[in-house]
Amino acid sequence: MKAWNILVTGSSGLIGSEAVEYFDRQGHRVTGVDNNMRRVFFGAAGDTLWNLERLKGVTKHFTSSDLDIRDRNGVFALFRKDRFDMIVHCAAQPSHDKARDIPLLDFEVNALGTVNLLEAARQHCPEAAFVFMSTNKVYGDAPNEKPMREMETRYDYADPADFDGIDENCRIDRTLHSLFGASKVAADVYAQEYGRYFGMGVGIFRGGCLTGPSHSGVELHGFLSYLVKVALSGQSYTVCGYKGKQVRDNIHSFDVVRAFEEFARNPKPGEVYNLGGGRANSISMLEAITRIEALTGKKISWTYSEQARKGDHICYISNLAKLKSHYPGWSVTRDLESMLKEMVAAEREHSQRVGA
Ligand SMILES: NC(=O)c1ccc[n+]([C@@H]2O[C@H](COP(=O)([O-])OP(=O)(O)OC[C@H]3O[C@@H](n4cnc5c(N)ncnc54)[C@H](O)[C@@H]3O)[C@@H](O)[C@H]2O)c1
Repeated sequence: MKAWNILVTGSSGLIGSEAVEYFDRQGHRVTGVDNNMRRVFFGAAGDTLWNLERLKGVTKHFTSSDLDIRDRNGVFALFRKDRFDMIVHCAAQPSHDKARDIPLLDFEVNALGTVNLLEAARQHCPEAAFVFMSTNKVYGDAPNEKPMREMETRYDYADPADFDGIDENCRIDRTLHSLFGASKVAADVYAQEYGRYFGMGVGIFRGGCLTGPSHSGVELHGFLSYLVKVALSGQSYTVCGYKGKQVRDNIHSFDVVRAFEEFARNPKPGEVYNLGGGRANSISMLEAITRIEALTGKKISWTYSEQARKGDHICYISNLAKLKSHYPGWSVTRDLESMLKEMVAAEREHSQRVGA
């Protein structure tokens, strides 16, 4: 198989770093772009330089740059220099709570940064497969309109027709998104347009909760990883609203990147896919606390606030039927228990490294 020349944006982040490692292992040449802006968004705990250093040690064909995707001239210069076969666009301001404090920065990174990359690709490598990592927050709180039933430790869909979760037909407008959801909608629709209007091989993946060992988990982003951190460090956690029974589906970064690979081998221009762990990998906040306490052997100290996060989902499970039907070679391969164990091990190792 011919080696690809791949650009990964957000290459020091959770998904970007998994993509770097995965494609490097396959013998492809990978260029990473990450300016460590996660530290700007979330402070020292969001710093991703440790992950960049780790990547340099485990890869063979990886080069990186601290280019800011908002820097249009810089982005165009990169595309003039290198002709990419695949672009994996993961750089983002990823938190919906954070966006309200930094609306302009959030828009510039998520929306404008994405258009910079799409347009550079159109001008310099229109044949490339372009993967855009979107989010289920583009549906705003429309998924909350589904009839719900309350169970002992979680909410679930009341209608059996919803059993497999939210599919891509859920509407994306006339709903409360948070500014983050809105900037991602802009990018999501632009990415669709570069596929539909220009015929480029752009795929849009609307992520559920994405997890893995390389998450620089912070309170405002990466809930499982942050809960593990809280359990091990003895800090306290605030559960916001819905009695802690809100449900998320969780997918390992490896399975996310495998979906990207399947798409890149046979791109379908402008298609949108929900990408999460599905029902089998779903867990509520209360259930996650219990599981993580059992795995770490530590009691999590948490408090409850009645106030739900604005635009928060009550029960979100990704319906994976479309992705599986377009790409039968793809499936969820990592279960929740193994993901949690891996996160606990990674957090123990990480806190030893930084001396916490
Ligand atoms: N993690 C999740 O649960 C989740 C869920 C749904 C969707 N997503 C989406 O998936 C994508 C990847 O998320 P992640 O969890 O890997 O996020 P992450 O924060 O771990 O990684 C994003 C990386 O992008 C970098 N970055 C930010 N702004 C940049 C800029 N202007 N120029 C260059 N680099 C920049 C950051 O430093 C960071 O390392 C994002 O688009 C996010 O919105 C994530």
